[in-house]
Amino acid sequence: MTDALKNDRFLRALRREATDTTPIWVMRQAGRYLPEYRATRERAGSFMGLAQNPEYACEVTLQPLERFELDAAILFSDILTIPDAMGLGLSFAQGEGPQFAHPVRSAADIAKLAVPDMDGELRYVMDAVRLIRRELHGRVPLIGFSGSPWTLACYMVEGHGSKDFATLKTMCWNQPKLAHQLLDTLARAVATYLIAQAAAGAQALMIFDTWGGLLGPAPFREFSLRYMTRIVAALKADPASRDLPVTLFSKGAGQHLAEMADTGCTALGVDWTMDLTDARHAVAGKVALQGNLDPAVMRASPEVIRREARAVMDSYGNHPGHVFNLGHGITPEVDPAHMKVLVDEVHAYGRTLRS
Ligand code: CP3
Repeated sequence: MTDALKNDRFLRALRREATDTTPIWVMRQAGRYLPEYRATRERAGSFMGLAQNPEYACEVTLQPLERFELDAAILFSDILTIPDAMGLGLSFAQGEGPQFAHPVRSAADIAKLAVPDMDGELRYVMDAVRLIRRELHGRVPLIGFSGSPWTLACYMVEGHGSKDFATLKTMCWNQPKLAHQLLDTLARAVATYLIAQAAAGAQALMIFDTWGGLLGPAPFREFSLRYMTRIVAALKADPASRDLPVTLFSKGAGQHLAEMADTGCTALGVDWTMDLTDARHAVAGKVALQGNLDPAVMRASPEVIRREARAVMDSYGNHPGHVFNLGHGITPEVDPAHMKVLVDEVHAYGRTLRS
C-alpha cells in the first residue's frame, strides 16, 4: 500500500485548481550541485551505475527533498535509457556528456530497433519508481518522464550531444521516410515506457523535447509535435495513465505553444526566453504552465534570485495553473543555499499574491 498524498499543490496547479501558494520543483533538482549527489555518484562508480540501481536512484531522488520544501519529486533516471535498452550502448565519459557506442544511421540500423521490454531491459526504471513511491510516504507526488521521440532521435543518430544535430536533420531532408520510421518506433517506445511508469506509481508525466526548438515551424510539426501528440493520445487511452497530468516541454519552441496546447496535454514547460504573460495568452486557458526562471539567475546573489523569482510570478499573475520551475536544468556550479532562497521565496511570494 502507498500512503495518501500529503502535499497535492503541484497536481492541483497542473489541473489549474486553486492552491495556497505556487508549487515549485526544479529540473535536475537531484544533480551535481548537491555534494550528497556527488558522494552517491562516487559510490555508484558511474552515472549509469547510479541510474540502473534502484536503491541509489531512490536515494538521490529524495536528496533535494531533505534540504528544500519542494512540491514534487522527479524520478532519477535519464531520457537516454530507452536508446540504451534498444542496444545502442550508452556511456557518459567524465565531463563529456552522453555517448552511444552504436549510433543508428542506416535503414538496416533503424529496422533492427524494437520497443524495449519494460519488464526486461527497463525493469530497473520501474523498480526505482516503485521504491521511490514507497519511500516518499506520500510527501509529494512523483514525476515520471521520457525524452520526446525527436530529442531521443537527435542523440541516437548523432551518437552524442551536438549544437545542431545536423545528422538527423539531414536524414529528415534526404530520407524523410527513414526518419519517420525511426520516430514512429520511438513514439511507441515512449508511450509504452510512460504507461509502465504510471503503472509502477508515477503520479505525473513529463516529456522532455529539449531539441524541438532546433526545428523550423513546419519541420517542428512534422518531426516533433506529431509524435508527441500521438503519445499524449496513447496515454489518454490507457487506464494506467489516463488520469495523470502530462507536461510537454519543447525548449526554444515558445512560438509553438498554441499548437502544443491543442495536443490534449495538461501543461506546457516554458523556457526563459518567453514572457509568461504572452505564454498564458498563447495557450488561452487550455493548459497550465511550468517555468521559467533563467537558470543562470541561480548564480546571482540571493537578492537578485528573489527579485527575479517574483518577476516570473508577476508575469504569470494571480491565476491558477502556474508551476514554478527554471527554464532548463539547474547547473552544477550553483550554491545549494541559493536553491533554498528560491524555493522559500516562491512559496512566500505565492502566498502574498493570493491574499
Ligand atoms: O531532473 C531531475 O532531477 C531528474 C533526472 C534527470 C537527469 N536527466 C539526470 C542526469 C532528467 C529528467 C534528465 C533528462 C535529460 N537527460 C534530458 C532532458 C532535459 C534537459 O536537460 O534538457 C537530456 C537532454 C538528457 C541527456 C543527458 N543526460 C545529457 C546531455 C547529460 C550530460 C550533460 C550534463 O548535464 O552533464 C546527461 C547526464 C545526466 N543526467 C546528469 C544527471 C544528473 C549528469 C551526469 C552525472 O552525474 O555525471
